[in-house]
Amino acid sequence: MSRWSRRKFLKTSLAASASAVAAKTVLPLSGAVDTRAVTNEYAGAGPHAVQNAGANASPRERLLLDFNWRFALGHASDPAKDFGFGAMRREATFAKSGVFPPMARADFDDSAWRRIDLPHDWAVELPFVNAPLLPEHGGKPLGREFPETSVGWYRRVFDLPASDAGKRISVEFDGVFRHAMVMFNGHYIGEEFSGYAPFRFDLTDFANYGDKNVLTVRVDATLGEGWFYEGAGIYRHVWLTKTNPVHIAPCGVYVRSEVRGKSARVFVTAEVQNESDENRKCGVEISFATSDGWLFGITDAESATVPPWGRQTFDLAANFDNPQLWSSENPHLYSVLVDTTADGTLTDRTETKFGIRTIRFDPDKGFFLNDQPLKIKGTCNHQDHAGIGAALPDSLQSYRIERLKEMGSNACRTSHNPPTPEFLDACDRLGMLVMCETRMMSSNPEGLSQLERMIRRYRNHPSIFIWSLGNEEREQGTPRGARMVTSMKRLANKLDPSRLVTMAMNGNWGKGVSGVVDVQGFNYYEQNIDAFHAQFPKQPMIGSETASHFMTRGIYGTDKEHGYVSAYDVNAPSYAKTAEAWWKFYDSRPFLAGGFAWTGFDYRGEPSPYSWPCISSHFGILDTCGFPKDTYFYYQAWWGAKPVLHLFPHWNWPGKEGQEISVWCHSNLDSVELFLNGASLGVKKMDRNSHVEWKVKYAPGAIEARGSKDGRVLLTEIRETTGEPTALRLRPGRAKIAADGEDVSVVVVEVVDAKGRIVPTASNEVSFRVSGRGRIIGVGNGDPSCHEPDKGEQRSAFNGLCMALVQSLKELGAIRIEASSAGIESASVAIQAEAATPRASMA
Ligand code: GAL
Repeated sequence: MSRWSRRKFLKTSLAASASAVAAKTVLPLSGAVDTRAVTNEYAGAGPHAVQNAGANASPRERLLLDFNWRFALGHASDPAKDFGFGAMRREATFAKSGVFPPMARADFDDSAWRRIDLPHDWAVELPFVNAPLLPEHGGKPLGREFPETSVGWYRRVFDLPASDAGKRISVEFDGVFRHAMVMFNGHYIGEEFSGYAPFRFDLTDFANYGDKNVLTVRVDATLGEGWFYEGAGIYRHVWLTKTNPVHIAPCGVYVRSEVRGKSARVFVTAEVQNESDENRKCGVEISFATSDGWLFGITDAESATVPPWGRQTFDLAANFDNPQLWSSENPHLYSVLVDTTADGTLTDRTETKFGIRTIRFDPDKGFFLNDQPLKIKGTCNHQDHAGIGAALPDSLQSYRIERLKEMGSNACRTSHNPPTPEFLDACDRLGMLVMCETRMMSSNPEGLSQLERMIRRYRNHPSIFIWSLGNEEREQGTPRGARMVTSMKRLANKLDPSRLVTMAMNGNWGKGVSGVVDVQGFNYYEQNIDAFHAQFPKQPMIGSETASHFMTRGIYGTDKEHGYVSAYDVNAPSYAKTAEAWWKFYDSRPFLAGGFAWTGFDYRGEPSPYSWPCISSHFGILDTCGFPKDTYFYYQAWWGAKPVLHLFPHWNWPGKEGQEISVWCHSNLDSVELFLNGASLGVKKMDRNSHVEWKVKYAPGAIEARGSKDGRVLLTEIRETTGEPTALRLRPGRAKIAADGEDVSVVVVEVVDAKGRIVPTASNEVSFRVSGRGRIIGVGNGDPSCHEPDKGEQRSAFNGLCMALVQSLKELGAIRIEASSAGIESASVAIQAEAATPRASMA
């Protein structure tokens, strides 16, 4: 096999290790050429295929542990209802080895527990309850007043073959809400309090080899971390990892690059861990793969002796000639394969995706990606979605990012916590920049540990362009806050010298933490921005949180009784701004790097300006299902690249004949002419970052907007007075999904009239029936005051729309979805569950 020229690793400097080779003069990935057998599948038949093939080619096994769990609610205060947990008995002691409660042992009978698959959020399954402060958290009975619904137990029984003896076995949780107590084969293993930080435990000593094992997790969601809905349970993936004693440390590969002219220098740091009693002579070799399956650039490091139970860091580097850069429009990804040998034998291989790009902030000119100015057109988002709460299948992450990309958005802020790995994978793949935020602003051990886990786990994602160390913190303006954040920044810089840090501050700019962070984050209060810039002209600035506009999809007036706000872009709390107001402000100031609107999607909780019966927010540009509100098109017009013309409201106003209705258009064309029933109501010029509006005396029929560019009509939009609902129509988001038991299609239901027009006020109750190779995992309609269950097979339409999330089974074939509603015509549609390589998972 021909190789790049190999040079020895120089420990003291990241010295040149490979001669320049054009990224495309490469070795094909085939067993014949590369005896390490990376298959073509590896190279890009989708994320699952890549992972599987990577796992097959590696001595390491990373197995998804999501399927076939058992679940039961326990009790936060009554041991008798918590399976005896916490009773003052011998078997409840923590310190006595192997005598942990019965449900932690393999012989416990859990047949009465419910069979579930992860990710799982039990909060979303609970009824809505009105109690003080609950609407702020989504109206679900979690907390000290609700001990009977605040604790959940999870059990998973699995076999480990006798051949696993001698390997290192660990379990990795991407996130559990909250306070997870992990037990294995009757032994107490450990606890994790954070609801968002990834964590892992080594199970090697506790495993039964050639026998059954039981992993038990008690999850206590009594205490929350935020002021919004946070879910409850093992709502992210769980992995079981088996490695040789000599292996890459967890999150032990760090890739960064420096672009120099037309080439790039890629630095790879690999931490090798020797979990054996012998000295081991270890070597590390890296090679790179393009996204279309070509392997190149093999480089190795000088071998080193790693002491028993010790760690050694290997630094390697390679030059890329004419690398394809990662950008918003062309999010090009490479992979680095890191092979570890011990005494000449391959013991581990990991695959890490990365991107080559430059990022920088300029205090006068804002943010630059690959040396090009890029205004951040961002949204803040929480992580929950209709139907499933916080437990999103991976494809829903992509669905959400795609909706935001279509709007012209180029960035997300993961307010106010680290996201899932799959969210970041989607952002990497789709070209969405990310401000990644830690949950706890503190330099206490917990705060630093959460920060470290976030950065180590996520620092290779090219989408992340800045770390956020907190949000609107009490200590943001104090010397104590400055000391805490100094410690956090020190850690962030050590773990990832390639990115700056910021803090989302809502006051005290110029004091405390302001002097510590590299980039000043502004939450709201734009009136202070110019003065800050004048006083601190060398500090770059970004709108870490803006907007907080209220709007309910399809509602065009205030409706306090139902808890709805008008969808015109006119409502925001006193500290906040409408879409048009904040964006005009930010767009006109080149020194501002851009900003993040609160929020992209509606989320559960924070139903401002209302409370019960309202239980979801109105801040979203899209609702909880991902249905766009009218303001979506404002952003699309001024953030996106394509011509936009959007006319609203709908034209169904019986009883309002002769009364004035505000008619708005969002557009980026030169002018718009409005017609009512064929008669022109005049042409209006469209100013940059604005909208146009008319007062129109209502008469049933149609309003029509004709948008012109360069003197000719480019787009037209019509809103017609519809008839009564006569039928349902189904629109599957994806007509083909992978038969891997995970993939999801968002199936939208439209309530239509006899002419096939969506009836914009329809609220018909829809029943779903799914047959064949799929199942419904949740339903929703985007109504922020709706108390119908998310789980089940019914949902009312809200303003003409509702949806079901349809998930594949691990079986090929058709999934038929039928939707029916009393008195109108039913609809049905089939989607295909197609052959897919399911991810390697535990049997
Ligand atoms: C901000 C806060 C967000 C959200 C928002 C609502 O102050 O950071 O989490 O509460 O207000 O306007």
